[in-house]
Amino acid sequence: MDRFVIKGGVPLKGTVAISRAKNAALPIMAAALLTDGQVVIKDCPRLVDVKAMTAILRVLGAQVKRRGDDLVIRASGRIRHKAPYDLVRKMRASFCVLGPLSARLGHAEVSHPGGCVIGDRPVDLHIKGLEALGARVRTVGGYVVAEATPLVGATLYLGGPSGSTVLGTANVMMAATLAHGRTVIENAACEPEVLNLIDCLNRMGARIRFSGNKRLEIRGVQRLRGVTTRLIPDRIEAGTFMIAAAATRGDVTLKDICLDHMHAVVDKLRDVGVVVTPVGKRACRVTASGSFRPADVSTLPYPGFPTDLQAQLMALLTVADGVSVITEKIYPDRFMHVGELARLGARLRKEGPHAIITGPAKLSGAPVMASDLRASAALVIAGLMADKETTVNRIYHLDRGYERMERKLRKLGARIRRVSDSEPIPQV
Ligand code: EPU
Repeated sequence: MDRFVIKGGVPLKGTVAISRAKNAALPIMAAALLTDGQVVIKDCPRLVDVKAMTAILRVLGAQVKRRGDDLVIRASGRIRHKAPYDLVRKMRASFCVLGPLSARLGHAEVSHPGGCVIGDRPVDLHIKGLEALGARVRTVGGYVVAEATPLVGATLYLGGPSGSTVLGTANVMMAATLAHGRTVIENAACEPEVLNLIDCLNRMGARIRFSGNKRLEIRGVQRLRGVTTRLIPDRIEAGTFMIAAAATRGDVTLKDICLDHMHAVVDKLRDVGVVVTPVGKRACRVTASGSFRPADVSTLPYPGFPTDLQAQLMALLTVADGVSVITEKIYPDRFMHVGELARLGARLRKEGPHAIITGPAKLSGAPVMASDLRASAALVIAGLMADKETTVNRIYHLDRGYERMERKLRKLGARIRRVSDSEPIPQV
């Protein structure tokens, strides 16, 4: 397993290009199962999660290949109905083949994705939505089995204790594109990644209308066609680099971003004293000097502050001047990074769905263990701030969602190296 070895204390400087969004790519890949036409995803990021979804689509009978930076998918010919445990357990997003398979084949068997290191992640809303469209859904031998002949449009409310569901909305909406009649999803997720999927489906021939009040209206069509589609910029990767730039008191220009998707993040960074200056519509400059102010932050569905940047912001707040509180309203147990940040000298504790962080800490490098994708990014940011050397172990989590992170950081001046287990830890 690879690890990063980081020597902290270098302000990041320069320009970094942000990749296209992982969380837009994965459901759009699943949507390719809705048509026998060719789906081309432009500039699809090279990530382990994209490879995992590729493996699932191939098992289901689709052809998937790279053409330069693009991903080309064709699900013509015989499509199989079973997505196996060994593949689905690796990545929860693969559960979103359930809707497309049910719509296309009338029968789908998708392994129940089970729990996850960031907490309990149920799929009851995905199932509720498909049942509302007339599918009979059972769990047999660890598989969610949906029988749906035919799917029929309905009006449904898709909300749980934490609000809307991103992949649940995607799953049910994809199924509804080929259902008979009209479906209305109330309390639909309105994350930019969901809107990216809607745009792609509409260009495939679907009839989906999103009205600003979390309401989706879908008029079923008989068939969908192939498409060439673009992904939105990865707002979570962009936020991670903004925080890393600020944390190192650097001066970094991010390009290929969409600031319009990042109001809550930019607002919070400005609150703590980071200077974020837009440069045209698709770039911004991030600088920071002096001390940071503490913050009180709650994660929320879009357009609120994203849970996927909670850990990274926490790393920054460990060095702010005073007491910060972070409340995790999406995944109340998503705090695996708290203990590891403490190993670097941060003063913080978890109390229920809150983390209380007392700064400013003087971070000092140490070996730490990455537990999930975004927690890993937080540890990298902390390592960039810490003195001496930090080793972030098990960085395969990072490769799931960040494209060539260490190369991008090195270009900004960071002293960071990827080391595989067979190599001794080098001097950087
Ligand atoms: N929920 C239910 N029932 C369901 C589904 C969700 O109660 O059937 C709850 C969840 O437990 C959670 C809340 O609803 O409390 C929101 O979960 P959601 O379904 O929106 O999460 P997701 O769609 O499974 C996506 C992202 C996550 C991101 C969340 C929240 C992808 C591939 N994943 O997950 O991204 O944290 O939305 O924004 O899009 C990441 O990239 O690191 C990541 C975890």
